[in-house]
Amino acid sequence: MPDNPRYIIAIDQGTTSSRAIVFGHDGHIVSTGQKEHEQIFPHAGWVEHDPMEIWTNVREVVGSALSKANLTRHDIAAVGITNQRETAVVWDRRTGEPVYNAIVWQDTRTQPIVNELAANGGLDRFKDTVGLPLATYFSGTKIKWILDNVEGARERAEAGDLMFGNTDSWIVWNLTGGTDGGVHITDVTNASRTLFMNLETLTWDEEILKEFGIPKSMLPEIKSSSEVYGMVAGSQLLRETPVAGILGDQQAATFGQAAFEKGNAKNTYGTGCFLIFNTGEEIVRSENGLITTVAYQLGDAKPVYALEGSIAVTGSLVQWLRDNLGIINSAPEIEELARKVDDNGGVYIVPAFSGLFAPYWRADARGAMVGLTRYVNKNHIARAALEATAFQTREVLDAVNADSGVPLTELRVDGGMVANDALMQFQADILGVDVVRPKVIETTALGAAYAAGLAVGFWNDTDELEQNWAEGKRWVPQMEETERARQMRLWKKAVTKTFDWVD
Ligand code: G3P
Repeated sequence: MPDNPRYIIAIDQGTTSSRAIVFGHDGHIVSTGQKEHEQIFPHAGWVEHDPMEIWTNVREVVGSALSKANLTRHDIAAVGITNQRETAVVWDRRTGEPVYNAIVWQDTRTQPIVNELAANGGLDRFKDTVGLPLATYFSGTKIKWILDNVEGARERAEAGDLMFGNTDSWIVWNLTGGTDGGVHITDVTNASRTLFMNLETLTWDEEILKEFGIPKSMLPEIKSSSEVYGMVAGSQLLRETPVAGILGDQQAATFGQAAFEKGNAKNTYGTGCFLIFNTGEEIVRSENGLITTVAYQLGDAKPVYALEGSIAVTGSLVQWLRDNLGIINSAPEIEELARKVDDNGGVYIVPAFSGLFAPYWRADARGAMVGLTRYVNKNHIARAALEATAFQTREVLDAVNADSGVPLTELRVDGGMVANDALMQFQADILGVDVVRPKVIETTALGAAYAAGLAVGFWNDTDELEQNWAEGKRWVPQMEETERARQMRLWKKAVTKTFDWVD
């Protein structure tokens, strides 16, 4: 343990970039390092990342975050990890080489595997045990695809030579020594995204593994979200610093928003949108298209569960308008265009690029833009793209309200898109409840820092963390109820146009 550690560092390994953020005791940001990695699209519907590039970038961003603030490892009390969930990495335990690129959560290539498994018992056949429907989204079918399709992989897995992990496990294994004694672990939140973890026992389910044909020896050991897992290896910049917290990025944002009480909720606006609703120690099984997941577990304490509404495409629709259509040159420009018109001109965009996730879970859906007339211009399209995020969030919030029976009265928000004032006002309008942004919007990294800091006594308890939360901005609904209802009716009609698009 360093002598006088004043800070915690969080590594946020996200879908488009890896970041390292150093936090002080009151939750303020001291310094940041960030680097994007390549998005690899080998075929329509396939999305991959290079795990080696990710690991190199992680080391680089840690270095730049430390050097920007003139810090050394002696200033850091612990490392917390947060990560894009579900993205599957499989590597060789002796060489440390991945056997294939990471298959990203958005990738839909495993639909045939989903269909095959669902043929015997339907999409919800494992839902009672793991909280999830069968879908391409989760890690399980991706691991199976690698074992079925990469030459020699199944034999090597059965011989005990391969390891699987979401990117949290990949980073922690490398950080703690890799082939030279690295620890192969994950936390309960990441494990709850694989399709393999029993939500009650928090252990891998042998029966389901058998159904998938996955050797248990490949899987990481499941740990809590906040405990010392190991020390950073001697070869690394942060050597001998405890690695002490792991939370999947959406659960980390929930933790960073101090949503510790049953009934608290947050929505994070990133490449996708993920609304998490804390259900306390109760495992609530959704009747309305949400999934059940672990929110966090602190050391030996009982786990805290959540309902989640996962939306695959929100911010990535803006990127698509920029990169694939060239309607804007930079993501923030979308707000400028959207503000040039008073309404969407009748246009609705349903970005079902990876099918539709919550609350529909329609793998057969593909994106649609409807309501086009000769009147429509690119400003309307920009506006419709932003509105798509708000409509999707409203549908998920309706599902949360229906499942919980107690309507939410306000929604805490975070993530890159909450800087967009027009979107946040429309979000409040279409939800009919207040939308609240905290002062520190880097809640994902903050949550991972909190988990690590709690484990090493840097913070004492969640009450202390709650005091760090402060309201930054609040948007109050201004739309008439009749207009809100009309907009939702048209949106839902647009959604139905996306169904049944896969031959
Ligand atoms: O479930 C996918 C989610 O964890 C990805 O989050 O922020 O990297 O897009 P983000």
